[in-house]
Amino acid sequence: MTDPGAIAFIGVGRMGSALARGLVAAAVPADRIRVSDTDRSAARRLAEETGVRATESNREAVSDVDTVVLAVKPQVAKSVLQELAPALTEHHVLVSIAAGISTAQLAAWSGLGVRRIVRTMPNTPCLIGAGAVAIAISPETDADAAERARAIFEPTSLVVTVEERLIDAVTGLSGSGPAYVFLFLEALADGGMAAGLSRETAESLAAQTVLGAAKTVIDLAADPAQLRDQVTSPGGTTVAGLGVLEERKFRAAVVEAVQAAARRSQELSEATG
Ligand SMILES: NC(=O)c1ccc[n+]([C@@H]2O[C@H](COP(=O)([O-])OP(=O)(O)OC[C@H]3O[C@@H](n4cnc5c(N)ncnc54)[C@H](OP(=O)(O)O)[C@@H]3O)[C@@H](O)[C@H]2O)c1
Repeated sequence: MTDPGAIAFIGVGRMGSALARGLVAAAVPADRIRVSDTDRSAARRLAEETGVRATESNREAVSDVDTVVLAVKPQVAKSVLQELAPALTEHHVLVSIAAGISTAQLAAWSGLGVRRIVRTMPNTPCLIGAGAVAIAISPETDADAAERARAIFEPTSLVVTVEERLIDAVTGLSGSGPAYVFLFLEALADGGMAAGLSRETAESLAAQTVLGAAKTVIDLAADPAQLRDQVTSPGGTTVAGLGVLEERKFRAAVVEAVQAAARRSQELSEATG
């Protein structure tokens, strides 16, 4: 793993604290991590539990670090960066997880050049170390900025690189995707119960089935369509189930769901512009 240098987390709610915990678990020395939050007790609790240093202010947090992770809600990103701007220098790299806030906005508000800024889109499974994050890298991004951003997420997430124009697509897929899968899990378990299983048995079989299918695709680097063929024999049970999903246009519904979420992400970004 690349050395991310000393890091300040501005905002240690759900996402910020999960990323900070992930770094400590990956053996980044806790004393190199500063955390700041308007909810001082949250920052102090995280410090007590992990050994990171809670600071009294956002400015203090960024004063002696290399990387600043902006992990506040999008609505407060502007005021937080304007407050931090006098303390930021071109030595700093700014990594933002704030949904819908563009690199250009981050640059305008922080005073940093776009080459020192990496906009990202993580997802909530990073809370349990199984996240998926896209980091937006352009030809202008400094190599050390890209590497430091990658290092922030590697302990908790799969990291992919995309052009910034594709961040809305990422939001529609992996950002919102866990909710689609939760819905599918509910339905899978409902089906099991309709077929006679207890709720407890149906829910655990459903979750393990989704986990096992996803792990098979990842571990074997296999094409999902081929794997599906392998479990579908002519006249068998799986083809009967898949027939209903095709007839009810399951595939088209999922494709359209991702597109609708991506469009909504773009609309929300434009509204904050
Ligand atoms: N959760 C997701 O699924 C997800 C996925 C991808 C990206 N994101 C992005 O991740 C960011 C954080 O989301 P989250 O779910 O972790 O939010 P969260 O749990 O609300 O955490 C944000 C934290 O920032 C604190 N804060 C507010 N104003 C501050 C300020 N001026 N200075 C320092 N700290 C401040 C908040 O304190 P108070 O509670 O006192 O306001 C809160 O503890 C958001 O921008 C979101 O778009 C979230």
